[in-house]
Amino acid sequence: MTQADIGLIGLGVMGANLALNIAENGYKVAVFNRTAEKTKAFMENAAHLKDQFIACYSLEELVANIKAPRPIIMMVMAGDPVDQQIAALKPFLSDGDILIDAGNSAFHDSNRRYRELADTPFTFVGMGVSGGAEGARHGPSIMVGASPTAYARIEPILTAISAKHNDEPCCGLMGPEGAGHFVKTLHNGIEYADMQMIAEIHEVMSKCLGLSIPEQAGVFKKWNEGPLSSYLIEITANVMDVIDEESGKPILEVILDTAGQKGTGRWSAVEAHMLGVPATGIDAAVAARCISAGRALRQEIAKVYPQGTDKLSFADKQVGIDACEKAMIAGKIAAYAEGFDVLAAGSKEYGWKLPMGDIARVWRAGCIIRSRFLDEIASAYDQNPELSSLYLAPTIAERMKDAVPGLRDVLCKAIMSEIPTPGLSAAMGSFDMIRQARTAAYVVQGQRDFFGQHGFERTDKEGSGFHGPWPAGGA
Ligand code: 6PG
Repeated sequence: MTQADIGLIGLGVMGANLALNIAENGYKVAVFNRTAEKTKAFMENAAHLKDQFIACYSLEELVANIKAPRPIIMMVMAGDPVDQQIAALKPFLSDGDILIDAGNSAFHDSNRRYRELADTPFTFVGMGVSGGAEGARHGPSIMVGASPTAYARIEPILTAISAKHNDEPCCGLMGPEGAGHFVKTLHNGIEYADMQMIAEIHEVMSKCLGLSIPEQAGVFKKWNEGPLSSYLIEITANVMDVIDEESGKPILEVILDTAGQKGTGRWSAVEAHMLGVPATGIDAAVAARCISAGRALRQEIAKVYPQGTDKLSFADKQVGIDACEKAMIAGKIAAYAEGFDVLAAGSKEYGWKLPMGDIARVWRAGCIIRSRFLDEIASAYDQNPELSSLYLAPTIAERMKDAVPGLRDVLCKAIMSEIPTPGLSAAMGSFDMIRQARTAAYVVQGQRDFFGQHGFERTDKEGSGFHGPWPAGGA
C-alpha cells in the first residue's frame, strides 16, 4: 500500500475536519485516535475521500504508514495530553520526523517543547489554527512556529489546505519556537475584544435606539458591506436572525447571559502585562466574560442597585446607527492596535522577528477575526515594517479621527443610560491616553516619591533621582 504523506492524531471535530481537508487536497493521510471507535466512525463517514486515508489502530502502525521524514499533526487537548502524546510517539520515530501540535496550546509550552525536541533527532512545530470546524474543513488560517527546514517540509501541504485571500494562502511561518502559538493567542485576544464590543453595541442599539434584534441583524448586514466588513459582524447578523423553535423568540433572547472561555484571551492579557504593553480592550473583554459568569452574584447586586429607566437617545435612529458604526470602527482599530503592540513586544522579548505584515495577511481569510481592515494593516506594515504603533499609520489615523467622535457619542449615551461598556470604554480610555503628550502620571510620580523616595525626573533639568521638598510625613 502507498504510504501516507502525513499523519494525524486526534479525530475530534477539528482533527477530523483537518484530515478531510488534507485528503481533499490530494494528500494521503494516516489517521489515529486513542479510541478505536472514533477512527472507525471517521472512516465510515469519509465517503468519497475514504481511499485517501490509512486507518491506524496503534501509534506504531501510524508511524510505519507515513513516508519518512514524517510530519505528524497532533490535534489533542492542549496541556499535558500534548506532552503525553509526544512521549508515546517518540519510541517509534526516526531522524527528521516532525511533530506538529495544532491545538490551542500556550506558547510558553510550545517554547519548551521546541527546545526539548531540539535535543533529539526529531523536530517540534507549534501550529496555531484558526477558523473553527468550518475553517479546519475548508480552509483555516495557519500560523506556524517552526525551524525554516521543518517549515519547508510541511509548507506545500499547509498552503494547500489553508484559506486563500485573492489566491494568496493564509498560512505562514511566524518564527521559531512558540511564535505560531503566540500569534494565535493574540488572534484570540483581539477576537475577545471585538466580540465584547459587538455585544455592547447591541445593547446600545436595543436600549438607546429601541431596535429589535431582527432590526439589528439588518444593521449588521449593512455594516458588513462597509469598512466594518468582517466575519464577526457577518455572523452576528446571522445569529440575530435566528428564531428559537421552542419559544418563537429571537434565539438571543433565550441564550443564558454567561460567557465561557477556554483561556487564550486570558493568556493574551497576562502576556501583555508581562511584556509591559497595555491591552486594555482584551483585559476588559476577559473581565466581562468573568463578570458574566458570576450570574448569581450579579443578580444579588442588581437588587441593591436597581437600574434606572431613563435612557438617553440619539437625535434620530439613523444618527444613532451611524454613531454606533463609528464606535465599532474606532473600537476595532483600538483592539488591533493593542494586539499588534503586544505582538511587537513579544517579538522583541523572544527574539523572533515576527513578520508583522504577514501576520495581518495570514489573518485576512479563514480565521475568526478576518476583516477588511487587515488589508490596510498589512499595507501599513509593508510600508513601514518598524511601525511603532498602528495609530501612526496614515490610513489608520484617518479612519480613527473620523470614527472617534462616534465612539465618544455612544459612550456618553451608554454611560448615562447605565449600559455597561467595558470594552468600548477601554478602547476610548487607552486611545485618549496614548495620544497625550503629557499625561497625569506626574501625580503618580509625586506620590511615589512622597511615600517611598522613589525619585523622579524633572521637565526643566537633565538627570534623574530628584526628590520633592515634602512636608513632615513624606518619606
Ligand atoms: C479560532 C477560535 C478558536 C476558539 C477558541 C476560543 O480561532 O478558531 O478562536 O480557537 O473559538 O478556543 O474559545 P473561547 O472563547 O472558549 O476561549
